[in-house]
Amino acid sequence: MTDRISIHGQWSSRLMFILATTGSAVGLGNIWKFPYIAGENGGGAFVLIYLVCIVLIGIPIMVCEILIGRRGRQSPVYSLRSLAREDGGSGIWGFIGFSGIFAGLLIISFYSVVAGWSLAYVMRTANGYFVDVTASGSRAIFSELISDPERLLAWHTIFMVMTTVVVARGVRSGLEQTVRILMPLLFLLLLLLVWYAYDTGEFKQGYNFLFAFDFSSLTPGGVVIAMGHAFFTLSLGIGAVMMYGSYLPSEIPIARTALAIAVIDTLVALLAGLAIFPIVFASNLTPGEGPGLLFQTLPIAFGQMPGGTFYGVLFFILLVLAAWTSSISMIEPAVAWLVENRQITRLRSASLVGLFAWLLGIVTIMSFSSWSFQFTFGGKLKNSGMFDVLDILTSSIMLPIGGLAFAIFAGWVMSRESVRDELKGSDLGFSVWYLVVRYVTPIAVIIIFLEGLDFMERLGLF
Ligand code: PHE
Repeated sequence: MTDRISIHGQWSSRLMFILATTGSAVGLGNIWKFPYIAGENGGGAFVLIYLVCIVLIGIPIMVCEILIGRRGRQSPVYSLRSLAREDGGSGIWGFIGFSGIFAGLLIISFYSVVAGWSLAYVMRTANGYFVDVTASGSRAIFSELISDPERLLAWHTIFMVMTTVVVARGVRSGLEQTVRILMPLLFLLLLLLVWYAYDTGEFKQGYNFLFAFDFSSLTPGGVVIAMGHAFFTLSLGIGAVMMYGSYLPSEIPIARTALAIAVIDTLVALLAGLAIFPIVFASNLTPGEGPGLLFQTLPIAFGQMPGGTFYGVLFFILLVLAAWTSSISMIEPAVAWLVENRQITRLRSASLVGLFAWLLGIVTIMSFSSWSFQFTFGGKLKNSGMFDVLDILTSSIMLPIGGLAFAIFAGWVMSRESVRDELKGSDLGFSVWYLVVRYVTPIAVIIIFLEGLDFMERLGLF
């Protein structure tokens, strides 16, 4: 244990850290992205690979990030640099921190746009758009929204301002308190939706789609996407969890805490899947609907259930909040780094970073609209806009590379003593984790990655 403290502050308790990090982990990734990528990749087998990746790759790397952050007590750039030097490694490791900062900015640029859809859906639900809506009506409402650049820009701007304001103020108890009440509420509401899907949807078909492991529908590309999503959903690979770890009081046990966060995160994703797929099958939509899946299915449920307008508004508000507690962690490393590096105020730093992310977001908006420009890739991504390119670049490439680097850092660059000193807990637990982080996790990431590269090459991406 070291007696360093962060200049940016410290969480008041273990619970606050869990809430903030769960807030970061649970977001659009669980409720919006997981169901639609599971749908596009054939369901069951994909879900299994995702779960295996959470256990063998995600949780061990989450422990690495927290321990590196807490020992370094600075933004990832400086934590990695100074810890490497302390244990006789090279200061070059700081660059990994930079690539994480950059990945965070790329992610928020499209994340904020989807959060904007959620904001728009709060209004649409409140205005009764979805009362007795049909599947095709629901689809039409969604496509009308995403092809309206001005509206998207307005919502994206509102969401970026919300994010910047919180980060500028520091991750204060205000937000922590909100999360404390709202996260359980989101959980309850998801349960309600699952119950609704059970009651009225094709629950069995939905359940089987998610949990019957049919490996014939799984492609190597699907495996890479599943692994990438394990990183994305746990907020790993960019240094966000590392940053939050740097505010963690020294006496708190890391491994158990990481486990709790991963379990909650996974449960939320599975619940979202169980709420959505029965409705997909009951209303003749297809699982491979793409990024619109959540926005096209749940309104059908809200449109039919008693009190649906109320629950619908509440659901989309909670979705926005879940996205909000995630988006702040995407730019926190960049903001902290600017404060440390330039000695500017947090307000200025957050404003600059927020502005930059807002500008990047406009590119995503353009990729949906009539102003859209297309990248000329071959194969699967042929007609994809910037949105898909950003998604694949971050989730399937940058996050796994970042996570791999963190595992190598904790497993091979830091000394065993430093690592052991930072992680409390049993010797047996430590030895197992250490072995996994040194060998299993890096090898798994590399194998999946190479398979995927090969696959992308065959698609004509490289
Ligand atoms: N984990 C968040 C989600 O599932 C997304 C995220 C990715 C947050 C990377 C921070 C860093 O929505």
